Amino acid sequence: MYLTREEEKILAGEYGPEAELAMKILVSIGEVFNAERLVPIASAHLSGISYDNIRDEGLQFIKMITKNSHFKVNTTVNPVAFDMTSPDPRLCDQKMLEKQSEIVSILLKAGAGESFTCTPYLIGNSPASGCHVAWGESSAVTFLNSVLGAKSNREGGPSALAAAIIGKTPLYGLHLIEERKASVRITLEIVPRETSHYSLLGYTVGVLLRKGIPYVEFSKTPCLSELKAFCAGLAAASNISMSIIKGVTPPGTYRENPLMERVHIEENDLENALQKFSESERNIDFVFLGCPHYSLDEIMYLAELTEGRKALVEVMVSTSRYIYRKALKLGIIDILEKRGVKIIRDTCAIVAPLKRMDIRSVATDSAKAAHYLRLKHGMRVRLMSVREIATEFFR
Ligand code: F3S
Repeated sequence: MYLTREEEKILAGEYGPEAELAMKILVSIGEVFNAERLVPIASAHLSGISYDNIRDEGLQFIKMITKNSHFKVNTTVNPVAFDMTSPDPRLCDQKMLEKQSEIVSILLKAGAGESFTCTPYLIGNSPASGCHVAWGESSAVTFLNSVLGAKSNREGGPSALAAAIIGKTPLYGLHLIEERKASVRITLEIVPRETSHYSLLGYTVGVLLRKGIPYVEFSKTPCLSELKAFCAGLAAASNISMSIIKGVTPPGTYRENPLMERVHIEENDLENALQKFSESERNIDFVFLGCPHYSLDEIMYLAELTEGRKALVEVMVSTSRYIYRKALKLGIIDILEKRGVKIIRDTCAIVAPLKRMDIRSVATDSAKAAHYLRLKHGMRVRLMSVREIATEFFR
């Protein structure tokens, strides 16, 4: 891989061991993928920062690589293991509190914003179409490539950190226009109506294709929440990090491919995917919403659907601090809390150690959450629309 003289100096350790290690990571990845060179990035988004997931090994790595480093670009971070503004004692013991706080203070000292969200594009880290960035978090990367038209591979924790330190990433994969070409045209025999349908549809496409780039044409242009749900479902079920969505993906950020194979998706395919997430409503003792983190519109919609009613089971909704503040100003947090809805910031039911709570079965409107609640926490899950949840679990 070609390196500038400056990059060679970094690799030789002239700017300290942390920058050297970061450069080694980028060069190793670049060489594996035959990248021609490094490319400057406009921003980074770091995933893999929940202590529940990365434990002491991850903490030590973050500590070591950021010791004398300052991030070169606008850097946001993914959710952590608990709501740091109001830690829930059921999720957070003293050790978790200390270790997670240490990770957070290291990252903030290195220049990360106090973001703690998987929807950085809703809180100001929203790169312009065509920009190169280095983002972790599969749902955010897929939204970025498919909706914003910016360019990122699906970075892991270490590679996104290294990119934030150097301000560059290897030029390969979805950074190259020739790689941003659909391989399969999805024809839909169904019309998604609710956000959860988009989530399940994305998940179904992911299960069927597993890799490549699908081209999708919806009968109406989806709204932001629907696109967010579709991208998260797609990425959770596959290695896919981009979809070309007619009328949404900015022209000029992908290559046309007239020779695409066609795949039909019909009601049956969705029902097959749904079978994994069909726990009986009678057994549900917990509702989780906000995967990816809820937008203000989604919080407002929940408030509208639950008007005059109270939750029958524990209901948790995750969002970012930024959206929470907006909802608080509008009085919606107060309204929802009086109905028994807990709005949490900085975290979510998947990156938090939810196993510590005595929960058997969960209802959610997100196929991604359903997938990981089963996989990571071993819970039984029911995937429902938020409208169905409001009807079934509020009186
Ligand atoms: Fe976000 Fe947690 Fe879902 S990080 S995408 S809410 S699994």
